[in-house]
Amino acid sequence: MCGIIGYIGEKNPVDILINGLKSLEYRGYDSAGIALKEKDEIEIIKSVGKIVNLEEKIKDEKLIPSHLGIAHTRWATHGKPTENNAHPHTAGRVTLVHNGIIENAEELREKLKKEKVRFYSETDTEVVAALINKYYDNDPVEAINQALKEVKGSYALGILFQESDDLYAVRKDSPLIVGLGKDENFIASDIAAIIDYTNQYYLLEEGEIAHITKAKIEVTKDGKVVEKEVQTTSMERDAKDKCGYDHYMLKEIMEEPVVLQKTFEPYLEHLEKLPDLTDYEEIHIVACGSAMYAGMIGKTLLEEYANTKVEIDVASEYRYKNIIYDRKTLVILISQSGETADTIAAMRKAQEHNVETLAIVNVKTSTIARESDSQIFIEAGPEIAVATTKAYILQVGIMALLAYKTALTKNLVKEEHKVLEEAEKLPRLIKEVLDRREEYKKVAEAIYQKEDIFFIGRKIDYATSMEGSLKLKEVSYIHSEAYQAGELKHGTISLIDDGMPVFAIITDDTIKDKTISNIEEVKSRGAQTIIISNEKYATDDLQVTVPKISPYFQPILIVPTLQLIAYETAKLRGCDIDKPKNLAKSVTVE
Ligand code: F6R
Repeated sequence: MCGIIGYIGEKNPVDILINGLKSLEYRGYDSAGIALKEKDEIEIIKSVGKIVNLEEKIKDEKLIPSHLGIAHTRWATHGKPTENNAHPHTAGRVTLVHNGIIENAEELREKLKKEKVRFYSETDTEVVAALINKYYDNDPVEAINQALKEVKGSYALGILFQESDDLYAVRKDSPLIVGLGKDENFIASDIAAIIDYTNQYYLLEEGEIAHITKAKIEVTKDGKVVEKEVQTTSMERDAKDKCGYDHYMLKEIMEEPVVLQKTFEPYLEHLEKLPDLTDYEEIHIVACGSAMYAGMIGKTLLEEYANTKVEIDVASEYRYKNIIYDRKTLVILISQSGETADTIAAMRKAQEHNVETLAIVNVKTSTIARESDSQIFIEAGPEIAVATTKAYILQVGIMALLAYKTALTKNLVKEEHKVLEEAEKLPRLIKEVLDRREEYKKVAEAIYQKEDIFFIGRKIDYATSMEGSLKLKEVSYIHSEAYQAGELKHGTISLIDDGMPVFAIITDDTIKDKTISNIEEVKSRGAQTIIISNEKYATDDLQVTVPKISPYFQPILIVPTLQLIAYETAKLRGCDIDKPKNLAKSVTVE
């Protein structure tokens, strides 16, 4: 989703801003822009599409020499992705970039129009610029304060004022940091944008306003100075590099054995470090997209092996539903970024009802990590490709350990040592699975020219199918759906045509014969079936077979095969694998 970078210092900001925008590309965007300021002159350049288009335009311009600038990648919400709607936006003496959504933008626009303010774009952002301009009387902080009192919604803003040589920033429900340099300072929507220049930063909290010069940063809230704690990121500079891989998605899949080992390390010998779910009468799992599918695996494992009932919902539904919290409940929020707007809202809803929240989260400084009551961190490191891979595997891994611990606490585990021994073997086994790329290329060759694909599975294999299907459609743009295998014949089977690929995931021994019968049903209607399983079948289907392991961890060996099939298929189709169209890495708006 939109990205912000800002610079003030001794250098010319252009390269720093463009470099920062490139580091934020993974968040997803459809246009980009930059504003440079020197004395009272402000120059704005914008372009639609990739950042290279902006670079091309910049080359053709004679830019003002400057030491202060802001830049933005826009993921359209209000108004089409046109140059006119791209940020920065100027209203009077105020120029700004904005991430988030202003919910009362139309109401404010109408009010301002009555005060003879003219608008030039369809964006909600221009409305905020106009509002700040309205209150600007040579005191930038006061103008920001006044204007934001009237604004409803989420925002991270980087702001320039005509008469000021300084940079201003403020945020609410949308992340923004202030990077600390020597004789230079930055703002950024995430550390990746500025890691080449500094690893130290301030985390802006809700409603705090940063007044930034090259030598000093003053943060205030409601007119009072706030003492900020310096944060240091452990992100390595080369975390942004592809390390020789063609794509971040591939690099991140290949990191799965290492990050799983790192994530499991604190818990394998100390399960007591994990929360005890038996303390609660009811468990809710709430998340979005792949994180929700990781939750579905968790729900299945908890119900199947730990005899623990679990409710699960996508956060965009949960936040608006009438949830009846009449028993001692724990709400588990799963989020890689920790900034997903719907998941944050679901968390706050639970907290408003005094219900405890536990976050399974990757980004330690994120809103969900900071505001949840307790946290389990996955150690994925930065995930740059828009489609999640390694973080999903770790979310599933943590859910598996939670289910196992719950089963253990309830005396439901027969071979305790065996499960943990298998957990220790996982990194090696994932590596074995990842090393078989030729097999996945073969499957990709068989499917890449198709238009529709189904995934089927039962119980945990259905949950795995959901992720396999999502991964394939998001990176290859092939239409794909996942169904419970037994449900197909209640309607969807009418879509099966000659040669249509159907992936069948079969790992659950208790139900595999049923899925095999479903394979026969689709085959007899012309489908080309591909079996992804933990045992080899004596059939002529295309097959991918992974090592058999404890059912707690089986999805962790199946999903990498589906991720790599999706990757190879997208590659054959020539897709923009790391930045699929219309998608954003961190969905910070509703
Ligand atoms: C799919 C994908 C998304 C995210 C979802 C939640 O590959 O990445 O479906 O899983 O947007 O994001 P987080 O985990 O950051 O809350």
